[in-house]
Amino acid sequence: SYLRHVDSRKLMPNGAGHIPHLKAVILGEALASEEDDLVLPSKEFSDQANVHSPEQYMEMYKRSIEDPDGFWSEIASQFYWKQKWGEKVCDENFDVRDGKIKIEWFKGGITNVCYNCLDRNIEAGLGDKVALYWEGNEPGLDGSLTYSQLLNQVCQVANYLKDIGVKKGDAVIVYLPMINELPITMLACARIGAVHSVVFAGFSAESLAQRITDCKPKAVITCNAVRRGTKPILLKDIVDAAINDSAKDGVSVDVCLVYDNPVALKREDTKWTQGRDIWWQDVIPKYPSTCPVEWVDAEDPLFLLYTSGSTGKPKGVLHTAGGYMVYTATTFKYAFDYKPSDIYWCTADCGWITGHSYVTYGPLLNGATVLVYEGAPNYPDAGRCWDIVDKYKVSIFYTAPTLVRSLMRDGEAYVTRYSRKSLRVLGSVGEPINPSAWRWFYNVVGDSRCPISDTWWQTETGGFMITPLPGAWAQKPGSATFPFFGIQPVIVDEKGVEIDGECSGYLCIKKSWPGAFRTLYGDHERYETTYFKPFAGYYFSGDGCRRDKDGYHWLTGRVDDVINVSGHRIGTAEVESALVSHPQCAEAAVVGVEHEVKGQGIYAFVTLVDSVPYSEDLRKDLILTVRKQIGAFAAPDKIHWAPGLPKTRSGKIMRRILRKIASRQLDELGDTSTLADPNVVKQLIEFSDS
Ligand code: PRX
Repeated sequence: SYLRHVDSRKLMPNGAGHIPHLKAVILGEALASEEDDLVLPSKEFSDQANVHSPEQYMEMYKRSIEDPDGFWSEIASQFYWKQKWGEKVCDENFDVRDGKIKIEWFKGGITNVCYNCLDRNIEAGLGDKVALYWEGNEPGLDGSLTYSQLLNQVCQVANYLKDIGVKKGDAVIVYLPMINELPITMLACARIGAVHSVVFAGFSAESLAQRITDCKPKAVITCNAVRRGTKPILLKDIVDAAINDSAKDGVSVDVCLVYDNPVALKREDTKWTQGRDIWWQDVIPKYPSTCPVEWVDAEDPLFLLYTSGSTGKPKGVLHTAGGYMVYTATTFKYAFDYKPSDIYWCTADCGWITGHSYVTYGPLLNGATVLVYEGAPNYPDAGRCWDIVDKYKVSIFYTAPTLVRSLMRDGEAYVTRYSRKSLRVLGSVGEPINPSAWRWFYNVVGDSRCPISDTWWQTETGGFMITPLPGAWAQKPGSATFPFFGIQPVIVDEKGVEIDGECSGYLCIKKSWPGAFRTLYGDHERYETTYFKPFAGYYFSGDGCRRDKDGYHWLTGRVDDVINVSGHRIGTAEVESALVSHPQCAEAAVVGVEHEVKGQGIYAFVTLVDSVPYSEDLRKDLILTVRKQIGAFAAPDKIHWAPGLPKTRSGKIMRRILRKIASRQLDELGDTSTLADPNVVKQLIEFSDS
């Protein structure tokens, strides 16, 4: 029934060109209805595109839904399998009412993702093609690796890991900045069947310790320090503290491999634990540059990536080899209209899922040339991104709305002083892109000629779920448009009943797809409870969504206790638990508020223990506590002193009211009669400006 919504004839009447609402598109004027603003790809673009018309999409989409086994096995056959999968392409139980949730794709198929990224492409003649360009934080510092050179380095690391006893199925924690060694390490783990768990190098020691304790890695791989912008960050100190912390929980780390980054810190100034720490440069080059592949089952784990949920404990999202490989490669190829001549740059860090699927695996599986950028996007000034685009002739540029908004604020001059003529496709991810940022990205950055792929997806989904196919149909600024092949999004109401046609509700997915996560590490029950129980029969995304009259999807943000700050997912419970760990904080409630650049900001209501006075020092100290426990990116934007919190008689905090107070929508507080103490609200409002 979904297909009905995607009526191709409505979308692209006859041919191409930016026809409707051209004036609004160019001037960024507010339209009476965003839904009516169609931005069409040019005829030249559509003619050369991998999917060039709504009809072609419809045909492929229809097949992917009606014959998923045939559709996906044809695609999967383009990869190397030591042994083909068994009889079933997909075996799933997607309904909690029928027992344990199980998702399997290509089970029995024996393959290796690293082999498919590197060896397979080299055998196909890409050995001398650049796989990774690396651009350092300081302009002028750069490097590159061809596919053959990358394979050699990956093999050296793989041999080292094997030598220290890392075996198939063992976890390895990677806490590295955006240097080539990060994707190299990921691929080395994949080569030997080890399970990497990359932790974003902006997470604090405590967050890192929590992850070490959970997955008990055989080794931690890091770097002594890094510079982002002008600031040196002493990563090794953070790792030391984390390893000490997890030792208290009985989890010891025997090996810490440290990449020496002399630009940020001298070797002799790096703190060292003899017997445990070892310099990357002292050992890795000594290992042979060939390493046999550990062949794994399609359903063997590839990596673990921790993400935030609605409780304080991060969730270890587990992805397996075969399905993830097929899915990330395919989504990359179609959503970015990838061609072998492209130079691709994704500004995400490999510490997040975007960096896993669309810096490392998806592009390399396609034999693409990928740019890895170490630094901050506005260093030394707001023109850096376009300087890099011109320097490497980047043709596909994938980033987050928060960066678009921040560059927009810095002004067009930083953009227009660069040519950017190499660009042909733009991408957006992490949060809904507001139409005005979309138009600025489209008109100013892309000179009104590059389609924007606004890709909606999640750590859990492994790859794109709802995304434009840039040459295929008209876009609407701010809408992620239509589902990718094989994806059946449904919108359900509170009771879990599917709603048809034009509607709003909770976004769920019917049926599995190859890139879906298989479990939460060590907690399958939480996996089922969080994602499959809220609406039985479906995967629940946690997002709200509206479908318009033309079947376009408009993501409206999280509907659970998760906030999205600069595209980083943060659980309100995590921030609350950090705040209440402060000895002077009795209680805390955190909500998201609209933020001009970050999308959402963190707004914390804090109740202090009896008789502690409010003070500026205490406010700073509370913020510091969150920075230390989670990371700087989770620091509250606002601390609102709260003599009490609005609670129901059963003690549940009414966040709805807090959200309204935080966004100063005081005349929309709604029904407060169920509160245990309605006076609390009045007090909170009085304290708003304190
Ligand atoms: O709320 C959605 C938002 O980011 C959440 C997933 O966060 P995470 O797992 O960290 O992955 C981010 C990168 C894929 C989603 O539940 N989100 C992501 N992309 C979009 C988006 N919201 C709207 N539009 C998007 N394109």
